[in-house]
Amino acid sequence: ELSPIDRAKYIAARRSCDFVESGMRVGLGTGSTAAWMVRRLGERIRDEGLEIVGVPTSTRTADLARQLGIPVSTLDEVKWLDITIDGADEFDETLNLIKGGGGALLQEKIVATASDRMVVIADVEKEVRTLGAFPLPVETIPFGWQTTKALIEETLVNMDVLNRETTLRMNDDVPYVTDEGNYIIDLHLKRIGNARQVALVLNQIPGVVENGLFIDICDAVVIGRSDGSVEVRD
Ligand code: A5P
Repeated sequence: ELSPIDRAKYIAARRSCDFVESGMRVGLGTGSTAAWMVRRLGERIRDEGLEIVGVPTSTRTADLARQLGIPVSTLDEVKWLDITIDGADEFDETLNLIKGGGGALLQEKIVATASDRMVVIADVEKEVRTLGAFPLPVETIPFGWQTTKALIEETLVNMDVLNRETTLRMNDDVPYVTDEGNYIIDLHLKRIGNARQVALVLNQIPGVVENGLFIDICDAVVIGRSDGSVEVRD
């Protein structure tokens, strides 16, 4: 029996698989919503003989896809994807996103950018007027991370960002480490008025690899509600 939020995620994930057709190269997102999507694709391969190649965005998703019998490749092998389906932590009315709550933002952004289409799957609670209530993840190389963190804070001051608390993401008492061996610094900004500019400026800081703002990348959001209804917004 699924909780209301999981029901909403499940229904959005299932619906998004209607966009997938035989012959497609499909980017496979990461997170609890994306996991439902991967399971549904596995089901369609088994039941309908759907023929796809999946490019996972994390070791977690790669493991799940292999378990389900989904043929898995790499981005370097396929080079370009027809579609990527992934979850998000927040989306706004222009379909800009915050991602990386699950720590896979770097591969997710590379894969989504290499796709003709990015479809986000989310429960309705993730829709926001202004991005930023969800902490913005910034992937940072471990070398000199404290200096990088200080530089991020200084940059936020210069941009007149009001709330600029930053925290190193932890895994119990050690830093959380991404698939690429990097750290994540979460930015508790509350409201990101100028997301486009924040995204650009953060990536200029030495030591910053990528940030969780997805600007002009998402083409459609499949929004699930716990009553079982789905809305596609594009
Ligand atoms: C993973 O790094 C994230 O970008 C996820 O897409 C995001 O955290 C959504 O996760 P859930 O589907 O578990 O809410």
